Order: sequence, then C-alpha cells, then structure tokens
Amino acid sequence: MITIEGLTVSFGAVQALRNVSLVAETGKITAVLGANGAGKTTLLRTISGLKEPKTGTIRLDDQSLVHKRTEDIARLGIGHVPEGRGVIGEFTVEENLRLGAMMAKVNLSRGLDEQYELFPVLGERRKQHAAKLSGGERQMLAMARALIAKPSVLLLDEPSLGLAPLVTAQLMHTIQSLCETSDLTVILVEQNATSALRIAHHAVVLHVGKVVANDTASLVAADENLRQYYLGLVE
Ligand SMILES: Nc1ncnc2c1ncn2[C@@H]1O[C@H](COP(=O)(O)OP(=O)(O)OP(=O)(O)O)[C@@H](O)[C@H]1O
Ligand SMILES: [Mg+2]
Repeated sequence: MITIEGLTVSFGAVQALRNVSLVAETGKITAVLGANGAGKTTLLRTISGLKEPKTGTIRLDDQSLVHKRTEDIARLGIGHVPEGRGVIGEFTVEENLRLGAMMAKVNLSRGLDEQYELFPVLGERRKQHAAKLSGGERQMLAMARALIAKPSVLLLDEPSLGLAPLVTAQLMHTIQSLCETSDLTVILVEQNATSALRIAHHAVVLHVGKVVANDTASLVAADENLRQYYLGLVE
C-alpha cells in the first residue's frame, strides 16, 4: 500500500503539487486523473524519488520513501513506466527486457518466460528492434520491462497516450487482469478518464496540483461536476 500525506512539490515558483494526500491500496488500481499540467507526472516522479518533495510523506507499507535514492526505491518494489514509455528503440525487445531484469537481479530466463506468457506478441517479436513495434506493443514492452523486476507497485504514466481505442481497451484489460491475478498495486495516471475509470477501484482527480476528488471510481465516474469541469467528459 502506498500512503501519501500532505505532499507539496515545486519547480521554482510553480507549485506542481499542493498538499496532496492519497492512498493506493494493495492489489487495487488507483486512477490519478486530471488535465494537462495537473501534476500527475510529478506525482509519479516524486514517488520514484526522481523529484524531491518540499513537504509531505510517502510510504510503501511502513517504509518511508522520501529522501531515498531512486534505485533504492526501485529495489523496494516500485516499478515505474514513464510517460512516453521509455523503451530503447535501438535495442531488441529482449534486450530491453534484459535491462529491466539486470537492474533487479532476478532470474532472467524465468522472467523472460513469464513476460512472454503475459504478452505473447513480445515473445513473437523478441528479436525485433523496439523502434519497429506498434504503439501498443511498445507500451506492453515498457510494462513488461518494469514487471520483470517483480515490483509490488506499478506506476503507469498515461499508458493509453497515442493508442487507438481498441488497443487502449486491450491494454486496460491486461492491467486489470494483472491486478486480479497478483497482489500488484497500480497507480494509473491517465488523461483518458473514461478508460481508466472503467478498470480502477479508486480515483483521485488533480487540478493544478490540488486534489479535487478522492473517491471510489464509480462515484467519480458518476459525478457530473467532475466529469464536466475536471475530466473533460462532456455528454
Ligand atoms: N521539469 C520541470 N520544470 C519546471 N516546471 C515543471 C517541470 N515539470 C513539470 N513542471 C510543471 O509542473 C506542473 C505539473 O506538471 P506535470 O508534468 O506533473 O503535469 P501532468 O499532469 O503530468 O501533465 P500532462 O497531462 O501534460 O502530462 C506544470 O505546471 C508543469 O509546467
Ligand atoms: Mg504527465
């Protein structure tokens, strides 16, 4: 479980997160929604230790993550799939996966087998350069590269960005079944509120760095005010 309390993060005069508190429960999907510049990426980068908060606490179960180095936070079980996916185009699918496994020192061949079972298309394309993959396949590779390290928490930054609706729906289904078949805790950042709310248990809505809603996904999805003013879901 990830527990965040009173998190404030600044870039000079810009306050990207203001007194943000939220809980991402074990084995559940917590959606973090909001428009451009709401602070979603900053939230994930701060959890991962890529950005220092000004104030506030972040805990993984009973352990504080604040002031820890990114590599130590990763070792504690936080997997981060960044915005834009971050796979290396010049490397093959398998080389990208090896990188993910290497950093976590896990059994490589077992890890590869598990990821190819989860994402069969990656197994079929294991010798292809990542640059040759479709957007959806690249997103799967980015997720597999994080998952091969056996994280207990997966941070996903806009996985649906640039994907066709059908591909997005398949990806969301994969995320959902990952949670159902393991105890994986997912923080799913999305501008695509409809897709995320379909699979999330809980949803937090950010607006210029502030939490404007923090409730079950079904209540957030049903709130006309939130839909119209913060989620861009005009009927
Ligand atoms: N490296 C940076 N330097 C300065 N300001 C930044 C930096 N990164 C983010 N910001 C600012 O912090 C605020 C939150 O940005 P952030 O990228 O976290 O938003 P976001 O919700 O992920 O947006 P998007 O949906 O466009 O990805 C914005 O005002 C942004 O301009
Ligand atoms: Mg972002």
